[in-house]
Amino acid sequence: MTKRSHLFAGYALLERKWMRPFIIVIAACVLLILAAVINLVSSSSSVSSFAYTAAFSELNISIVDPDDIFAKQSPLSSGMPIPPRFAYLISGAKGHVNRMKRLLQAVYHPRNHYLLHLDLEASSKERAELVNFVKQFCAYKRDGNVHVVEKANLITYKGASMIANTLHGAAILLKYSKHWDWFINLSATDYPLVTQDDLLHVFSFLPKDINFIEHTSKLGWREFQRAKPMIIDPALFMDKKSDISWITQRRSVPTAFKMFLGSAWMILTRDFMEYCIAGWDNLPRTLLMYYANVISSPEGYFHTVLCNTREYRNTTVNHDLHYILWDNPPRQHPTTLTMEHFENMTASGAAFARKFRADDPVLDRIDKELLGRKKDYVVPGGWCLGTNLWGDPCAVAGDPNILRPGPGYKRLEALVARQLSQEMFRPRQCVVEEE
Ligand SMILES: *[C@@H]1O[C@H](CO)[C@@H](O)[C@H](O)[C@H]1NC(C)=O
Ligand SMILES: *[C@@H]1O[C@H](CO)[C@@H](O)[C@H](O)[C@H]1NC(C)=O
Ligand SMILES: *[C@@H]1O[C@H](CO)[C@@H](O)[C@H](O)[C@H]1NC(C)=O
Ligand SMILES: *[C@@H]1O[C@H](CO)[C@@H](O)[C@H](O)[C@H]1NC(C)=O
Repeated sequence: MTKRSHLFAGYALLERKWMRPFIIVIAACVLLILAAVINLVSSSSSVSSFAYTAAFSELNISIVDPDDIFAKQSPLSSGMPIPPRFAYLISGAKGHVNRMKRLLQAVYHPRNHYLLHLDLEASSKERAELVNFVKQFCAYKRDGNVHVVEKANLITYKGASMIANTLHGAAILLKYSKHWDWFINLSATDYPLVTQDDLLHVFSFLPKDINFIEHTSKLGWREFQRAKPMIIDPALFMDKKSDISWITQRRSVPTAFKMFLGSAWMILTRDFMEYCIAGWDNLPRTLLMYYANVISSPEGYFHTVLCNTREYRNTTVNHDLHYILWDNPPRQHPTTLTMEHFENMTASGAAFARKFRADDPVLDRIDKELLGRKKDYVVPGGWCLGTNLWGDPCAVAGDPNILRPGPGYKRLEALVARQLSQEMFRPRQCVVEEE
């Protein structure tokens, strides 16, 4: 080859090299404009007839921190309240890494914060796999909002080490960001039934001091099985998992406070989590010590703290927004949800459901019909502007303030409105029932 033809070939290559990005840029611009138009249309149509009863006019609506980078009103969503932000703690046990990845993708939104905790019992290989996944995920998404708990905890599912882990997660999330509004505690065996756009949309209309926590003071048979026996949670002081040990002596039912119990799944406000972790009141600490010896303490600790604190008692909504199908009494084990439960769980309007088997076909159905999620990608929302060659619908990220709620928000809205109705909201807050 002569020098000239070399040069020529180089030129042609250069020319082609220049053409490709040019076409890509043009295509991206077209996409951006299209998406903006779609957004404009969809967000103006979703300025909805969303109005609740007077149920929460008495509650204080907190002001969004002016430093919040997302707090500025987006021009495209003017007229809508600024969406809140959630802080998720996703906890998984040994063997749950794939479920955690899938759950993260199913609940991902750039506004939120995510903290993943893998039980100390998991192998270092599993842990490395999770950390690697999150690294790649973050490098790709560049929102910097997904983290992994580095110093993992050993957890006994029914013991106080579970509460310790939840508080640990919340403390880390409080430190990571000043700008989240609600804390959501999920297990790797949970799955969402609505998109984050749906959830954020419904929560944008709620006062920021509402706590979703299912609770009752009726101990019933549980007085004998929960309040009186004492246990020791070995995960608090051993380095390997072992069974809970029971103390032969029994103690009396507390009189210094009223015990409440309910579902271990909840959506709690930032303010309440700060009260539990950094508050000046001693109640959260003394109760933590009391609950160290209570069986199934995650089903009682936060309920008892909330209902025994004057400032928070009136902020409770007696529902956990989870669909959980309990076995018939004694309500000890949730039924594993499968395809046959799909209609009922959708109709419930709940935001999340549990529990599922790993990669059960019903999860694929939820992805397809309720979330619009493609395998290995996050759930698309109003912030997603463009697809790439591989089909990621959120390859081009847009304004995270723009929500595009789908049919899921109607279902959730109906459930929340029902819970906030006159008959359901006030009359069911921390009611002390005599046995
Ligand atoms: C609402 O907030 C104001 C000012 O922060 C306070 O004075 C008032 O007591 C609050 N009301 C309730 C019901 O918490
Ligand atoms: C938090 O989530 C986990 C799921 O990993 C659950 O088992 C636990 O009981 C929840 N609640 C509390 C109060 O820790
Ligand atoms: C909470 O609600 C009850 C009953 O509606 C009311 O009597 C009480 O004053 C309220 N407490 C606070 C702190 O607002
Ligand atoms: C769904 O709900 C209906 C009505 O509550 C009930 O009769 C039916 O047994 C439920 N189906 C399943 C599979 O749980």
